[in-house]
This record gives sequence, C-alpha cells and structure tokens, in this order.
Amino acid sequence: MFHTFVLLCLCWWRLIGVFGESVSVMEGESVTLHTDVTKIRENDDILWKFGAENVLIARISGAAGVFPTYDDVPDGRFRGRLKLDHQTGSLTITNTTTEHTGDYQLVIRGAKLLSKTFNVSVYARLPVPVISRDCSSSSSSSSSSCSLVCSSVVNVSHVTLSWYKGISVLSSISASDLSISLSLPLEVEYQDKNTYSCVLNNPISNQTTHLDINTLCHTCEVHDHCCGPTEAVIRLALSALVGVATVAFLLYDIRSTRVR
Ligand SMILES: *[C@@H]1O[C@H](CO)[C@@H](O)[C@H](O)[C@H]1NC(C)=O
Ligand SMILES: *[C@@H]1O[C@H](CO)[C@@H](O)[C@H](O)[C@H]1NC(C)=O
Ligand SMILES: *[C@@H]1O[C@H](CO)[C@@H](O)[C@H](O)[C@H]1NC(C)=O
Ligand SMILES: *[C@@H]1O[C@H](CO)[C@@H](O)[C@H](O)[C@H]1NC(C)=O
Repeated sequence: MFHTFVLLCLCWWRLIGVFGESVSVMEGESVTLHTDVTKIRENDDILWKFGAENVLIARISGAAGVFPTYDDVPDGRFRGRLKLDHQTGSLTITNTTTEHTGDYQLVIRGAKLLSKTFNVSVYARLPVPVISRDCSSSSSSSSSSCSLVCSSVVNVSHVTLSWYKGISVLSSISASDLSISLSLPLEVEYQDKNTYSCVLNNPISNQTTHLDINTLCHTCEVHDHCCGPTEAVIRLALSALVGVATVAFLLYDIRSTRVR
C-alpha cells in the first residue's frame, strides 16, 4: 500500500517536472536536451521554454507538422543556434556561450501533459594560471626560501585557484563573481624536491601550471615583469657603478688604514 503511494507520488512528480535534469557543458560545445519521446504523434504539441520568464524558443506541432524555432527571443542569444529533432522533439543548442546557462522547460501536450525542466550550466574556458616570483615579499630576502605567487585574471564565475603539493591541496581561493583577478602566494625552500602545481578549475574543467623551482627561484631580477632590454642595460650599468664604487671605497679604506 505504502509502496503504491510512493510510486504514485514519484509518477506525479515526474509529470509536473519536479525532478529537473542538470546538464553541464564547456563554452563552444553543443548540448542536446532529450524529450525521451521516440516518435512524435499527430496530436502532440511540444514546447521548449527558456529562463525565468519561460520564453517560448521552439515548438513542434504534430498536427500541423510545423517546427518553428524562435531564436530572436529573449534577446538574440539563440540566433542560429537552435536545432530541433523532428522525430523526437529534442532540442540542440549549438556553439553554446555562458549566456545559455539557465533553465529550459519542456512541455509536451498530448494524451498526457508532461513537463520537465533542464538546468543547463555552460562554463567558460579557463586560462592557464601563471606562476611568478614575488620579489616584493619581505621573506624573499631570506636566503633559503623563495616567495611565489600564482595568479589568474579570470572573467568567469565559479572558479577556484589552488596550490597543490603532489596531489594534496595546500591552499585555495574561490571567486563566484565576474571580472576578478585571483592570486595565491606560496613559500618554498630552494632545496625543496616536492612537486608543486597551481590549478585553476571550475566544476567541469581545470588548467594546471607546474612549478619549476630551479628556474623561477634563481634570481629576482630575471623574472621581473618589467625587464625590457633598456631596463636590463640600466640595471647592469647601475650594478657596475655600485661595484666600482665598492672597490674604490675598499681601496681607499685599505690605503687609509695603511697610512695610519
Ligand atoms: C561560436 O560563437 C562565437 C561567438 O560566441 C563565434 O565567434 C564563433 O564564430 C561561433 N563558432 C561557430 C562554429 O559558429
Ligand atoms: C542548476 O545547477 C547548478 C549546478 O549544478 C546549481 O548550482 C543551481 O542551483 C541549479 N539551479 C536550479 C534552478 O536548479
Ligand atoms: C567580464 O565579462 C563581462 C560580461 O561577460 C563584461 O561585461 C566585462 O566587461 C568583462 N570584464 C573584463 C575585465 O573583461
Ligand atoms: C584536471 O582535469 C583532469 C581531466 O581533464 C583530471 O584528470 C584531473 O584530476 C584534474 N585535476 C584537478 C587538480 O582537478
């Protein structure tokens, strides 16, 4: 008796579409939302609606045998991107962008009324995170350790930037807003033999940069962002000047000591 009740409830929920289906894709990919109809019957009427306003974006009228898509609503984001399967009524959105994220409601009016909601998430492609030495950090003056920072300028939502030591997470930082520059520090010893990597990920993909301590932690000057050729020459000249001054001072010092 109880089982029958549960089954009835499940069927009913299914009919009114309480159980949505979640679909995740990468930007640029196509996504197909399936009706689970094998063959449209003559008196079926299939509607596809998008967003909170339930804007009608596609329709199949079995009786009329017409399959219009309305890709100019709500604002042209679907233009040229909607394809309907005339056999099943399934809807394909091609070359998706993050703007296609949202709820898609399927309504089938036939012998029975059936409705189902698809929760589609389109994730942006991620840039490769950049690891650089942080020469401004106070601890970079310490002789045995090296301050690093992993950064990423992301204009996408739902991303996390993390430092990994081997396969374990050392630290991470998340952003749920658009237009954010993320950065995460790391301190390592020069002699550290562990493998470190910086990973930028969203719920369905990631980009990884491996840390090469030997090249990055060599000297601060080499990996500065600023160093054009002129800058390098000026730095060289300044170093030379300081060197000459030091030698001169030492010589002077030695001579004055001798004179005394
Ligand atoms: C996919 O859409 C982007 C704009 O979002 C456009 O620049 C690109 O040409 C499209 N690619 C194809 C294959 O239609
Ligand atoms: C859609 O799915 C995403 C991720 O799976 C979730 O964060 C979001 O809350 C869902 N939205 C709805 C309306 O169910
Ligand atoms: C981030 O993306 C939004 C919309 O996708 C855009 O309006 C904004 O100008 C972008 N910001 C930057 C810094 O690229
Ligand atoms: C990154 O994605 C790959 C598959 O693309 C997966 O094998 C790997 O575990 C992911 N790494 C992390 C740190 O999430």
